[in-house]
Amino acid sequence: MKIVMLGPPGAGKGTQAEKLSRKLNVPHLSAGDLLREVVVKETSLGKEARSYMEKGELVPDSIIMQIIEEKIESLKDGFILDGFPRNINQAKALDRYLEDRGEKLDLVINLEVDKDTVIKRLTGRLVCQECGKVYHVENIPPRMICQDCGNRLVQRADDNEETINNRLKVYFKHTHPLIEYYQKKGLLRSISGEGTPQEVFERIINLI
Ligand code: AP5
Repeated sequence: MKIVMLGPPGAGKGTQAEKLSRKLNVPHLSAGDLLREVVVKETSLGKEARSYMEKGELVPDSIIMQIIEEKIESLKDGFILDGFPRNINQAKALDRYLEDRGEKLDLVINLEVDKDTVIKRLTGRLVCQECGKVYHVENIPPRMICQDCGNRLVQRADDNEETINNRLKVYFKHTHPLIEYYQKKGLLRSISGEGTPQEVFERIINLI
């Protein structure tokens, strides 16, 4: 299956993509995680990407396309994309890429949440600095240690209120138009991203 997760920052795209990936046994590709990997490795791509990410701006299409295409290439049994595409140009590039291989997307899941939810979720998010597992301050494991790999939990550099507000502006300017784009293609299913992760997941399973 080839699925795209859409939604504003903090909508729960990563959380739900991870659950869905386990349920369907389809790999989860997070554009943000892939970018953070190259930033940590301090490759030339990573150094360029860092400056955009710290401000909450989109990194240039040429950088993200290179990273995503390289990853998708190795996936034979579909994917769940989270954080990509993020603008019309990227969506068209993904369409072309799939068409060239005689493939197409099956579904685009759009998670709807209000701004207060976004702020609360993102200012409280903690991630494992080693494996990237996502937590929230309201539900952290003992001693702030990741339950999966035993490493420390940290706050993401772009999870401060000022950058979150800019990420939201960027979302409405560049990513929100994808809702209409995928609606016209008959691929879009919108659901509420409010409620507990399990409640949201059940909505997703029902629509699949
Ligand atoms: P990215 O990492 O993709 O960030 P984002 O889109 O802003 O999304 P988030 O990861 O913040 O939120 P999410 O929806 O995945 O929520 P999550 O599940 O973690 O991108 C970061 C940056 O990289 C961008 O700003 C840009 O610079 C760059 N970038 C990435 N892709 C790009 C692209 N294609 N092109 C150009 N640049 C790109 O949940 C958030 C929190 O809420 C967690 O703490 C979680 O535990 C909690 N939570 C989740 N669901 C629930 C729930 N139902 N109830 C209560 N808490 C919940």
